[in-house]
Amino acid sequence: MQLNPHYAELNESYLFSTIAHKVADYQKAHPDADLIRLGIGDVTLPLARPVVDAMHKAVEEQGHKETFHGYIPSEQGYEFLREAIRKYYAQRGVTLDLSEIFISDGAKSDLGNLLDLFSADNTVLVPDPVYPVYVDDNVMAGRKVLYLAATAENNFLPMPDEAPAADIVYLCSPNNPTGAAYTVAQLQAWVDWAKAHDAILLYDAAYECFVTEPGLARSIYEVKGAEEVAVEVCSFSKIAGFTGTRCGYTIVPQAIVRGGQSLNKMWLRRQTTKFNGVAYIVQRGAEAVFTPEGMREIQANLDYYRKNAAVIAAALDEAGVWYCGGKNSPYIWLRCPGGMGSWEFFDWLLDTARIVGTPGEGFGPCGKGYFRLTAFGDAARTQQAAERLKAALATL
Ligand code: MLT
Repeated sequence: MQLNPHYAELNESYLFSTIAHKVADYQKAHPDADLIRLGIGDVTLPLARPVVDAMHKAVEEQGHKETFHGYIPSEQGYEFLREAIRKYYAQRGVTLDLSEIFISDGAKSDLGNLLDLFSADNTVLVPDPVYPVYVDDNVMAGRKVLYLAATAENNFLPMPDEAPAADIVYLCSPNNPTGAAYTVAQLQAWVDWAKAHDAILLYDAAYECFVTEPGLARSIYEVKGAEEVAVEVCSFSKIAGFTGTRCGYTIVPQAIVRGGQSLNKMWLRRQTTKFNGVAYIVQRGAEAVFTPEGMREIQANLDYYRKNAAVIAAALDEAGVWYCGGKNSPYIWLRCPGGMGSWEFFDWLLDTARIVGTPGEGFGPCGKGYFRLTAFGDAARTQQAAERLKAALATL
């Protein structure tokens, strides 16, 4: 009997758990401290009314014999939700087949589960800094992870001409944590590179709803030929506040075939064996996101978060602190002032301004000296945080 030895190669705890413990310890030592939490990217606005109504209706259906739903007919997800997602993509000129859309309980699970489809010998390329889940998932599986530096010099958007050879490449755009977003033209270079290197792109589009500038991609499938090399993972968490409700989706195109095997068929095989689908009630709620009323309310919520981002950005402008992001992303990525390290700034900000953020270093070595603030907070509290931030920074 041998336990998985690769767990010993991981950091002791997941980034956001480490932060939660640190903050809990601080709160214990300072019970009166009024902390403002701009750390983990968790939403604060409630679900949109059409989503709540749809879930209420679905709950009622589950309480009557005539309308009750047992096991989901397809582990891939109810057709009504997959059809709504298909139409959402069609609005952007992306044609998907229903068989290519798989409903999940969120992006995080599928980003790890997808690795079941690949050999443990594959080499993985991960931008640095990036959402720590990509690295940890692969370390757990014993896969070799290579890093691609995302720095201020390349505008935090590394391109394939800087990339070493790899079999699987993670891309996240708009990026968590830097907020940088690829243009369709830049992603074309990645798709062409993947074709030339027989690589697969795992594209995390969880923050696509924050894109406002023209030319920036919201889906990898806006790029020609992407359906032959890219899997897209997305979530209802950020677009519709489903962080606690749990629903997402993964697109596995039929055109991805390697060594005579269809990735789509493999994923279907995997899901039907290991997953029993997302609750009917939740899928009905997710469907309502795409109704005109749902979309209207959701856009108003996204604007609320965008305003928070502008408030934080204005405070940093005033204080003369360098930052990026916050425009096509809910994250502001700032350079720690006074040459402070990421964790040093975390402690300083917590103690001086009672603000919780996320140390850039937690997203990878290239995040050293950077810090992330989220715009998902309550508007009044974010305003208060901006005032505290300015006052604290003025003391440096
Ligand atoms: C983050 O703060 O990076 C995200 O909220 C984490 C997540 O989506 O799991």
